[in-house]
Amino acid sequence: MAIITIIGIGQYGSALACVAAEKGNEIRMAGSPVDDEIVDACRKTGRHPKVDVPYPENVKFYHCRDWEKAVEGADFLIGAVNSFGVDWFLNDILMKLDPSVPVLSAAKGLMEKRDGTLISYPSYWESKLAKAGIKRDIYALGGPGTAEGIINHDHTHVTICGKDNAILKMMKNALQASWYHISLTHDAEGLETAVAIKNAYALGVAIALGRAHRLDKGAEQPHFNSQAAVFYQAAKEMLRVLELEHAELDSALVGIGDLYVTSMGARTRKFGLLLGEGKTCEEAQELLGGITLESLVVVRRLSHAMTVKARQGKVNLSDFPLLQYVMSVLETGKANALPWRRFTYENL
Ligand SMILES: NC(=O)c1ccc[n+]([C@@H]2O[C@H](COP(=O)([O-])OP(=O)(O)OC[C@H]3O[C@@H](n4cnc5c(N)ncnc54)[C@H](O)[C@@H]3O)[C@@H](O)[C@H]2O)c1
Repeated sequence: MAIITIIGIGQYGSALACVAAEKGNEIRMAGSPVDDEIVDACRKTGRHPKVDVPYPENVKFYHCRDWEKAVEGADFLIGAVNSFGVDWFLNDILMKLDPSVPVLSAAKGLMEKRDGTLISYPSYWESKLAKAGIKRDIYALGGPGTAEGIINHDHTHVTICGKDNAILKMMKNALQASWYHISLTHDAEGLETAVAIKNAYALGVAIALGRAHRLDKGAEQPHFNSQAAVFYQAAKEMLRVLELEHAELDSALVGIGDLYVTSMGARTRKFGLLLGEGKTCEEAQELLGGITLESLVVVRRLSHAMTVKARQGKVNLSDFPLLQYVMSVLETGKANALPWRRFTYENL
């Protein structure tokens, strides 16, 4: 059995803690600097305030200031911060961590270089660490798997990416369960790009469903035509981006699977539905209790990256009408009609 330290004590870190602890691994969860109250609550009640199910007994909790104790003797560390904690994780954890401890990242998102190149969080961290003289390969986990589904043993299939086969297999053995199926790949950039950009496109799919709700008028079954048609367009544009990144087909399809689950039930879906139903971005965010949405960051970065690539003659922006539409929603603050004609084609 392995000792696994998880940094970040949100919903996803908790789900991974549950799956790994149920297998008998020793799990040590440490919060970020803003998680002290959550750590106290977990210690007191054995539950995360935002997660329904109690943690198994072999999960221990640490305040951020004690993270180094939490990592003593660990077989590997999981980074489970969200996009807003990426630089904190780099500067306060990765820069100080014993280089022999392997790291698996669960965060979903992308960084963008000035020249329009998109890079995954693992690549971003590796290059910053290399500049500081630290050689480290970072592994990452991606694929369809909401925290709630994982905790409730809903079968899913995710992928771990990285360089070293022995480390990939060690992580897979520690985490896979009868309901949590894991594939392995060396295609880190492809996989991480796929599962990050799906957040941008899931927003478009959810907006389409929200707009369709306006037509439902009390019908027993909501209408799904427009959601499905926008899903098609989202998949098409994702595949175009992923082709530019030379992603393997499996990595791209993992992203499409993830697009489905994110469009069906996550914070991004709730936000998109409200926009589609006619709320402004500000109103929707307020109604959702001021939640932070990683998808908005990805929309902006992906959209800017494609604009830069278009200037360089590498892409044609008219091939990305859904991305342009979602970006315009963020710019204007409201979801106007979708550009349906721009989604059509004539393959004659
Ligand atoms: N929740 C899910 O179902 C799910 C599923 C798949 C992937 N993910 C991905 O996993 C990652 C974590 O998701 P989550 O739902 O647990 O996120 P979350 O919002 O619950 O936060 C996770 C952790 O990030 C930390 N954090 C947030 N802002 C920070 C900052 N500025 N500085 C330092 N730390 C900060 C929080 O304190 C917390 O410990 C995300 O990138 C998400 O996309 C989540």
